[in-house]
Amino acid sequence: MKDIHKKILNAFTEKYGSPEVLSHAPGRINLIGDHTDYNLGFVLPASIDLGIGMTVGRNGLEKCRFYALDLDEEVEVSITEPFHSIQTGWANYIIGVLDGFKKRGVKLEGFDVVFAGNVPLGSGLSSSAALECSAVFAISELFGFSLEKSEAILIARDAEHQFAGVKCGIMDQFASVMGRKEQAIKLDCRNLVFEYLPIQFEGAGWVLINTRISHSLGDSEYNRRREECEQGLNAVRAAFPEVESLRDVRLEMLDLVSMPEKIYRRCQYVLEENFRVAKAGEQLKLGLSRDFGRLMFDSHKGLSELYEVSCAELDHLVNEAGKLDAVLGSRMMGGGFGGCTLNLILEEDKENSIEKLRTSYMEKFGIDPDIYVVNTADGAGIVKHFQD
Ligand code: GLA
Repeated sequence: MKDIHKKILNAFTEKYGSPEVLSHAPGRINLIGDHTDYNLGFVLPASIDLGIGMTVGRNGLEKCRFYALDLDEEVEVSITEPFHSIQTGWANYIIGVLDGFKKRGVKLEGFDVVFAGNVPLGSGLSSSAALECSAVFAISELFGFSLEKSEAILIARDAEHQFAGVKCGIMDQFASVMGRKEQAIKLDCRNLVFEYLPIQFEGAGWVLINTRISHSLGDSEYNRRREECEQGLNAVRAAFPEVESLRDVRLEMLDLVSMPEKIYRRCQYVLEENFRVAKAGEQLKLGLSRDFGRLMFDSHKGLSELYEVSCAELDHLVNEAGKLDAVLGSRMMGGGFGGCTLNLILEEDKENSIEKLRTSYMEKFGIDPDIYVVNTADGAGIVKHFQD
């Protein structure tokens, strides 16, 4: 990331003048537990060494200028008018964060932003949360507004809800802010109680394979899945009013109430995935990588067949991974409909396994997938505050 930080500082100086603050926020992998967060269940993410760096500095104007260095795109936003979403998708994440500060009574002054990163966009690694969180940290530092981490997470999450139109859960922003090197976070999304679990799979590491299929369908289907879960929950509640979320539902309850078959499958997946996260947490503690890996494959099957958020490309990569002895586990990750598979692969045969997966993907889909060998890393924060 050091190179990226240097790059954005240079670009800032060239374009706008003196930078005041440099922040950083990581993307995340999710070891297991997808589409459980907004159902108030459990997730097991970890922040990674791919992320977004952002530099900011006041400009004495009544507007903010945001420059996305990687895209060479600039956007201007007035700070005297109410904030609203605009056409340029990435800018909404920053505008949403600004709005969050304004709502909390921060008196905004005009400032400039330059950001860049190495977390691939729209590939299930939470590039949007990384952008939101780097903005939250940079802006609070710039205006000397002291912020609890829990509040930082909410500002970032609300930006996504209100300005990007995705009714996401809390996992991505939580992981980006709270992540720690070599630890996964077992998070209870109902009350945000969490514990750090050291990742101690000896001789095995994480590899992401990017299908390079972008999930443009993803946002609308994501919101639809949320509604479907809501529908299932309401059906269960009619018979079991004490139930607050799918997290409280047991399979026997589902069988006792009537709901469309598709809604049943969505709920079944969520219930089973919550169980898997609980089991996976235990296996992580014991360092049982093969057992853990099996749960990853099961999770993928559920996401593909019951929750239906996978696609042919992801399914192919996971199927092929299942044939390789050195791949202990493989699954799609995040919202779905493209993006990356997460693979837990034995170091001793890592290169060979990656090559096999890549070749088979190329043969079938004519696309050379991007490969990222990732490590866990610390969560978001301020890298530097420049003094006058
Ligand atoms: C996206 C959302 C998260 C979570 C995952 C699926 O990444 O931002 O809140 O719901 O999808 O697990």
